[in-house]
Amino acid sequence: MTKITLTATGKYDILVENGLLRETGALTRSVSKALKAAVITDSTVADLYAEAVIRSLEAAGFETKLFVFSAGESSKTHATLLNIYSFLAESDITRTDIIVALGGGVTGDMAGFAAATFLRGIDFIQVPTTLLAQMDSSIGGKTGVDLVQGKNLVGAFYQPRLVICDPAALKTLTPRIFNDGMAEVVKHGCIKDVNLFEKINSANQMDDIIFDMICRSIEIKRDVVENDEKEKGERMLLNFGHTMGHAIEKVYNFGTYTHGEAVAMGMVLASRAGELNGITQGGTTERIKSLLSKLQLPVECRVAVKELAKAAINDKKRSGDIINLVMLKQLGEGYTLKLPVTELERFFSGGAKL
Ligand SMILES: NC(=O)c1ccc[n+]([C@@H]2O[C@H](COP(=O)([O-])OP(=O)(O)OC[C@H]3O[C@@H](n4cnc5c(N)ncnc54)[C@H](O)[C@@H]3O)[C@@H](O)[C@H]2O)c1
Ligand SMILES: [Zn+2]
Repeated sequence: MTKITLTATGKYDILVENGLLRETGALTRSVSKALKAAVITDSTVADLYAEAVIRSLEAAGFETKLFVFSAGESSKTHATLLNIYSFLAESDITRTDIIVALGGGVTGDMAGFAAATFLRGIDFIQVPTTLLAQMDSSIGGKTGVDLVQGKNLVGAFYQPRLVICDPAALKTLTPRIFNDGMAEVVKHGCIKDVNLFEKINSANQMDDIIFDMICRSIEIKRDVVENDEKEKGERMLLNFGHTMGHAIEKVYNFGTYTHGEAVAMGMVLASRAGELNGITQGGTTERIKSLLSKLQLPVECRVAVKELAKAAINDKKRSGDIINLVMLKQLGEGYTLKLPVTELERFFSGGAKL
């Protein structure tokens, strides 16, 4: 078992091992004296893994309660959250009990926010079951729900007590959802670790590298979060490809592309803009495109830069006249460029005054 420890507000372990899901009970017991464990999961994951997790929790002496919501981003709302609060109250969950978030990023974000706010905060653990959740969303304490006005607009920084990653659970993912997570792994390589990038690029098959790739990707996220838990500086690097990625998701009404697919195209746009404006090493964009294509991710967006820039500028989370763009000096070395919003379109067309 690989153990990666994260020290932020609180200190917790991220454990990685094939088959670990079945040890959820004993591992949860090692961080909690709770009488009850409230398992929150979505409808797809419930069918696949809830029984094993509940059996394991009960074997470790927890009384278990189960809440299941319909799978998908459209459930990440205050309406589901209110149902979760009612479920927790009706289950007589107290401050000394624990929530187990079993599922992808939607489950982790929403169950984590319920944990942060129910009774002003109770313990929770993450049992992530998508690639994205294992190497990204379960780590670092960002929790929240969407509003109709935009994604993740209500939330809190609230760290879990433990993260249990079972790479074997990824076997049941559809290729598209798996590759969606791969976009974020490639992003970690781009901003922090050219060796990770190359390792993925030279792998003959995913099975050969998946365990080490997840662990390395978790370490990268852990380091960034430890340096900047509340996203005032370095954590922004994780937004590489996301300014244009979010714009693409928005222009397509969140329907055509997955988040990872949009980020893949966003990374290509950012890298290309970097090369055109003379701040990114020549050839970087071709290397990124080639790897993303290998992973069956889209690399070219058909929407005009002008329209994307407009969507990016209107982003609800953006404020002021300056936009923080994450750029690459070269593969493995990301940094934040502060750009006046008025320059954004020109920048992505390659003619900004820097
Ligand atoms: N908190 C953070 O730091 C952070 C970071 C990145 C993304 N996010 C959030 O994460 C969410 C996206 O996460 P996601 O892609 O995991 O979405 P998700 O939770 O909706 O999971 C994607 C799909 O995979 C299914 N699934 C999950 N595990 C499975 C398994 N093992 N086998 C088969 N199917 C499985 C789910 O039922 C769902 O249909 C977004 O809401 C995003 O905002 C949060
Ligand atoms: Zn992302």
